[in-house]
Amino acid sequence: MCGIIGYLGNNEASPILLESLRRLEYRGYDSAGITTIHRGKLQTRKAAGRLVNLSDLLVRDPIRGAIGIGHTRWATHGKATVNNAHPHSSNNVSVVHNGIIENHREIKKHLILKGYSFGSETDTEVIPVLCQKFLDQGCSYKGSVHKTVDMLKGQFAICFLFEKNDDLIFLARRGSPLVIGHGASTMYVASDALALAGLTKEITYLEDGDTAAVSRNKATIYSKDHQETKRPKSIVSINAIDLHKRGFKHFMLKEIHEQPKVLAKAIENVSADNWLASTSASSLPFKELEGINLLGCGTAAYACAVASYWFENLAKLPGRAEIASEFKYRNAMIKPNDLSIFVSQSGETADTLAALRYVIDQQGHNLSLLNNLISTMAKEGTHSLPIHADLEISVASTKAFTCQLIVLLGLALAIGKIRNKLEQHEYNEFQEVISHIPALTNIVLGLSDEVRKIAQFISEFPNALFIGRGLMYPTALEGALKLKEISYIHSEGMAAGELKHGPISLIEKSFPTIVLAPSDHLFEKTKSNMVEIQSRNGPIILLSDADGVEDISGEVDFSLTLPKVHSLVAPIIYSIPLQLLAYHTGVIKGLDVDNPRHLAKSVTVE
Ligand code: AGP
Repeated sequence: MCGIIGYLGNNEASPILLESLRRLEYRGYDSAGITTIHRGKLQTRKAAGRLVNLSDLLVRDPIRGAIGIGHTRWATHGKATVNNAHPHSSNNVSVVHNGIIENHREIKKHLILKGYSFGSETDTEVIPVLCQKFLDQGCSYKGSVHKTVDMLKGQFAICFLFEKNDDLIFLARRGSPLVIGHGASTMYVASDALALAGLTKEITYLEDGDTAAVSRNKATIYSKDHQETKRPKSIVSINAIDLHKRGFKHFMLKEIHEQPKVLAKAIENVSADNWLASTSASSLPFKELEGINLLGCGTAAYACAVASYWFENLAKLPGRAEIASEFKYRNAMIKPNDLSIFVSQSGETADTLAALRYVIDQQGHNLSLLNNLISTMAKEGTHSLPIHADLEISVASTKAFTCQLIVLLGLALAIGKIRNKLEQHEYNEFQEVISHIPALTNIVLGLSDEVRKIAQFISEFPNALFIGRGLMYPTALEGALKLKEISYIHSEGMAAGELKHGPISLIEKSFPTIVLAPSDHLFEKTKSNMVEIQSRNGPIILLSDADGVEDISGEVDFSLTLPKVHSLVAPIIYSIPLQLLAYHTGVIKGLDVDNPRHLAKSVTVE
């Protein structure tokens, strides 16, 4: 998703803006640009593609000025071209923007009738031109910005730069994050505090509807009714070291290998007998609950799908896992004694946020599991719990996914105990099983070279199928998503039992199947699926434990022997080789595994 940065201080803005945009690369983008003010003139440089193209341009054709704004664009309206890259400017207003202006067509028509012209295909360009119109009518900077945002419909984070004022950046926030970073006679603005790591720790988070006039020595904030207001400063210590790969070739590999550490931290926080009582969620009416809704997008949605099994079996609560982007629009019924759990690494995913707002509107009990506790979902939700994954930079959700699973499992156990569906000894036994996960994770990470051999094989194919039963079914869905988003191989996950109801027609020599089959009570049924595949010459990669691999030995193209694990925690352990498979396949195909094409780390538009 797009990234915003702004600077006003006493140094050249251009290198500072560029370095901060580098910190935002992980959000995904396809063009970038910056605008500064130098000697009363707006100066802009923009480039399509990777940030290196912009920095090359700035070497060839530098711009000066101690105030500026910058942007990495993830194209929504208009192709990923230089012309559509931000910043966009009118005569003397320059703007960068995250989000979508839903009524941009009627505003554009109105402005053209007033004699204004446009040069891009973007929705964004109406913002500087509309602001220019109000300035031309004699409005002040504040008045022009307020009139402009009052006319805009949709979600946005906007920075305004005015050619005639080199000590002012105006901000507007509605539905897309914006922060102010405070320095000594220096100010920063950004769409994400991460962009300011190493620059400042004093951060002010704007709230929805806020606008702000930021100069070198002060920030004046206005609430949605344009009245001056105060917002607290937070101290945000983003460990700049987390921004480095620390010897790993990619952030994705580093974060896969961080799992033993972060999973141990997550486990530590959800293993004490009454850990829930010391959290903000303690006031939820767990004893009265009648159902659990589990909502997320992408990988987070698959964490929800896994957890629905756990809530059913451990807390004896009907668990309904749904794709967040569908939930709101089908007018889902929210019963008074439902608990809706929202899972999101970023806490900014627009689809999940929309579902949360839907449940809040219905006065439904809600709880968000987040990696970013200063996110919009954390602010707007009633209760939230951390997943303890630390910073996740790579677009692929890996350690966040397994940490989500740990907290969801801890939640299901805790609620099962509160509802007297679990005896203390059962609770203790499950916690004992969970306590071995970090060590098991380390063992599986040691199979990376074996996984790379499988990746070498898989990388030759245009398609792949992932199948599993029980908890291995949602695990297969996540494995397919990982492979497709990182290697661009068309991958599909499905319940193994579904194969013969249609998809088996796909099976042939050029269509491999990754089978997730621990040697549990479902193994024999999945084994018959493997026989069906083999009889149609379909290549098979089997992920199982020693018993399972021995049972089917020699009849598959590849097998990966994983530790024998309790079925409860198999989704966590079996996801790790699938993450490695996606990673190695992407690397073998020479792809940018940390920034896959078209993808964003946090999708802040619906
Ligand atoms: C994960 O590998 C994907 N990049 C994507 O599906 C992601 O899980 C999804 O967009 C949800 O993001 P969130 O957890 O920040 O809400």
